[in-house]
Amino acid sequence: MKDDEVRKVADNVRDYFRETAESIRIFRWVWRELTNKESKRWSRRLLVLSLLGTVVAMAQPWFTKSLLDGAVQKNRGTIIYGLIGFGICLLFAKVLDLLASVCRERTWGENFVNLDRRLSGLFFSQSLGQHLRESGSLNCAGLSKGRDHIFNVQGVLLFNNGLVDMLQMFVSLAALWLISPVVGGIALGMLVHYVAWLMFLNRAFAEKFAPVEVNYRRYTRALHELWDKVERVKTCGRAETETRRLADFGRATADEDRRHSLWFDRLATVRSLITDAAFAAIMAYGAWSVLQGEWTVGLLYPVFSWTAQFRGDLWRIGQIERQLNKALPAVKALRDVLSERPDVTDRQGAASLPTLSVPRVEFVGVSHTYPPAAWDEDDPETLAKAGQPVLGDISFAIAPGEKVALIGPSGVGKTTLMRLFQRYADPDKGVILVDGRDLRDWRLDSWIGALGYIAQQPQVMDGTIRSNLVFGLSAEERARVTDENLWTVMRRLKIDFGSRLTQGLETKVGRNGIKLSGGEAQRLMIGAAAVRKPRVMVIDEATSSLDSTTEKEVQAGLAEVLSDGVSALVIAHRLSTVRDLCDRFLVLANPDDGNGARVEATASSFEELYRLSPTFRRLADDQGLRIGSDKPPDGSPDEPKGEPAKVIPLSLIRR
Ligand SMILES: Nc1ncnc2c1ncn2[C@@H]1O[C@H](COP(=O)(O)OP(=O)(O)O)[C@@H](O)[C@H]1O
Ligand SMILES: [Mg+2]
Repeated sequence: MKDDEVRKVADNVRDYFRETAESIRIFRWVWRELTNKESKRWSRRLLVLSLLGTVVAMAQPWFTKSLLDGAVQKNRGTIIYGLIGFGICLLFAKVLDLLASVCRERTWGENFVNLDRRLSGLFFSQSLGQHLRESGSLNCAGLSKGRDHIFNVQGVLLFNNGLVDMLQMFVSLAALWLISPVVGGIALGMLVHYVAWLMFLNRAFAEKFAPVEVNYRRYTRALHELWDKVERVKTCGRAETETRRLADFGRATADEDRRHSLWFDRLATVRSLITDAAFAAIMAYGAWSVLQGEWTVGLLYPVFSWTAQFRGDLWRIGQIERQLNKALPAVKALRDVLSERPDVTDRQGAASLPTLSVPRVEFVGVSHTYPPAAWDEDDPETLAKAGQPVLGDISFAIAPGEKVALIGPSGVGKTTLMRLFQRYADPDKGVILVDGRDLRDWRLDSWIGALGYIAQQPQVMDGTIRSNLVFGLSAEERARVTDENLWTVMRRLKIDFGSRLTQGLETKVGRNGIKLSGGEAQRLMIGAAAVRKPRVMVIDEATSSLDSTTEKEVQAGLAEVLSDGVSALVIAHRLSTVRDLCDRFLVLANPDDGNGARVEATASSFEELYRLSPTFRRLADDQGLRIGSDKPPDGSPDEPKGEPAKVIPLSLIRR
């Protein structure tokens, strides 16, 4: 749920039942998808034990009735019968309690491990394309929120006796009904009255409390932002003013909250008065029945305790409903996003890519359109753009061992092409051939195994240099890789971090370790890619966030990794980065005809490219790149935008 969103609640009976049906579907999804056999077994046992426990707890007042009736009638037999029954109930209750705790703990333990495993399974089974598309909800925050709420619901049901309360409520109602339909009827009236209140209060909650909740969320977000952006706040000298402003907002919100809460408390008092009146009516009816000689005096006791039980359960179930209402939206969001089917899977009969040779890769007429994200539907502008292809009819090949650079302006679709290459998603049209066979006919894991990817932002994991270097290796590969192998990679990539490697390969990096600069982190990532001995390197703007000195170091690392006869597809923001690294250059350009980007030119030198591609000329000139003495041919469709002050433009001389 977004910060400013007010939670909707049902305001009529039909909506209420519709929502209840949806809640049941959510519960069933959790039960089906996230609960394993073992935990299902334990929770079923828990249910049976709880039911038995409820029956035993309710039998106890029944035996008390015998005790009282025996005392009134001065009948020893009845008294002893009552006492024995009472004692057995106590004993049984304790044994059942103990057994139930075992089941509860088992259910909890099983769920704890299994839930995360299942969640991760569903999360990772979705393609990276799906992750990009659903990046607003299919992410760590969404997952952990949904997970926490599932645990909350489970805690309410298992440990706060939610399950027992619900069972008890129905069993007490049934028992009261059996004693007398009048008493049962009044109790049922209590239930209906309570549900009506619940619906009314839910609606009142929406009107009064939800905006307060929104304000609380805004307040918290603003506070966190102030704390997070301490540097900006302090350097602007805004600390005191902003804190005061926020405190005023907080006070206003709290005042509003208090007003509504007091209103709510008054209503709640009315509600319990009505429930209490029903309680009194039941007892009055009981007393009258005793006077009529229809009931024994003793019967008043079980009726009293079951009604009290019923009233208490009603109240607690109201609380549970409130807690479930709070938890379910996050669980629902989780279900919606995790029940999407994975869209990149192995085709039937997919083969494993040979593990040793460097494959030949070919794009044949590949085009791709991003499917509109859910939120696009609200925005006509993005929706219109969302339907247009990003890439249209792209064809080129990478021979084994060839290094190809992708060049093109920002937003043209270079990253998209790389995503298709790594099967984040499959192209809508055309095909990517690997060793002459559709990429979709190779097993995904074997393709991923052939690739070494270096992303724009280094993703250093919390751990040691070693654990980061071997992260991409299988267990067998990890066992096989020696320290000497790792050190060779470290030396080649000059990963020494200014002699901060005090513990060698075991030096901690990441959150709890030494702080790595962008360039150092990126070199570590290149090292990690090299350790995997990839056959095709995929490098997307790996140096774009670095300064030019650091870029040179990283570039040297890249050159090392690429020197092993691997193939490569490289994107670099700075053209100078790829100039010496790559054998062939491919320029992507989007003619803005709504058909997506195409390959504008391909060449094996910058000089040639400068002649052939207006897009490249523009990029090279913008970056002040010196490209031999080449000038664009006469009548070229697009003159380069004058190189900075090298030649004085004719137009100026004439003036
Ligand atoms: N996940 C996405 N969903 C929708 N559109 C996207 C997504 N990623 C990129 N695009 C769009 O596709 C186009 C190409 O983006 P991209 O491949 O990142 O370009 P480049 O890497 O060349 O800068 C851009 O118009 C961008 O807005
Ligand atoms: Mg990009």
